Amino acid sequence: MRRHPVAQMVIVGAIASAIGIALALVIDWFPTDAAEQAAPIDTLYDVLMIVSVPVFVLVTTVTLYCAWEFKMKPGQEKQDGPPIHGNTRLEVIWTAVPAIMLVALCSYAYTVLRDIEEKQPNTMVVDVVGQQFAWRFGYPQEGGRPVTSTMLVLPKDRPILFKVRAEDVIHDFWVPAFRVKIDAVPGMTTEVRATPTKLGRFPVVCAELCGLGHATMRATAWVVSPAAYERWLARQGEAPVGSGGAQGAGADEEGPATDEDAGDLASLGRETFVQSCGSCHTLADAGTSGAAGPDLTDALGGQSEDEIREDIVDPDKRVAEGFEPGVMPANFEETLSAEQIDGLVAYLASVSR
Ligand code: CUA
Repeated sequence: MRRHPVAQMVIVGAIASAIGIALALVIDWFPTDAAEQAAPIDTLYDVLMIVSVPVFVLVTTVTLYCAWEFKMKPGQEKQDGPPIHGNTRLEVIWTAVPAIMLVALCSYAYTVLRDIEEKQPNTMVVDVVGQQFAWRFGYPQEGGRPVTSTMLVLPKDRPILFKVRAEDVIHDFWVPAFRVKIDAVPGMTTEVRATPTKLGRFPVVCAELCGLGHATMRATAWVVSPAAYERWLARQGEAPVGSGGAQGAGADEEGPATDEDAGDLASLGRETFVQSCGSCHTLADAGTSGAAGPDLTDALGGQSEDEIREDIVDPDKRVAEGFEPGVMPANFEETLSAEQIDGLVAYLASVSR
């Protein structure tokens, strides 16, 4: 047992490393890969695992061996081990080996990063805006109306440059299936690239703790064929609902809505709902599918206009079962005009009947 401790440790370490590497490669760590960027990132991860496992095994076996072999025996309570210093060869080895590994791995990671961030021809820009607690996506169009959407609709095989901003606190734009992730920081625009390669719906996640509703700050990336994307975009451009900035609500209408014309007021309300509420609330009539707040499709039944108004301007007074206070912004009286709030009340009251 005691004659060849180093040889024994090497054998134990080699076996443990082999098992660890096999396990690391067998485990399916990742969600489906849906972008060109995914494969090189997954390979990088595998390589890092293969290199890390033997290092972990080395440190662990040496630690365990020393704890066992050099443990204090009765009568040694007052003794101290001999001081060790001046083993130049050992110090050169344990400095040089990690340094070489680090430089090699960093160079490899850098080339992967440079490759996945390379500028591509025919790149399409999508604006991503994070705001407690929802994502909004903008599609700048040359000479056309700007289109905004709460769903991230993307054409397959087209390189996308995401320009990411935040309106209040730091968020983090993450599409796990694309393997890309970038902080959304107030006051600056960050960029990240991805080229979707698979049709389907993939989760968009906020990966930075940003408040009580952080866990619900999710959206859907929907990768469609280029033709379907063009059709979707054209439809968004035509519809007054959901287009234009938050401040521009109603700008394309004939005139401001008035109390006399309940139909206009409700249509302003619907437009306001889609822009300001739909990313958190599902409402069948408005075609929205947010999940951060209660589904209003059925929840509105029997509510009076006064109750609906109170729920908008003072959301923490009555909180629906299963939801937390403090998630819904309490400042809609400041961020929306009085007319928009009147519109919302009129619209929601009309769909609740
Ligand atoms: Cu936004 Cu977490």
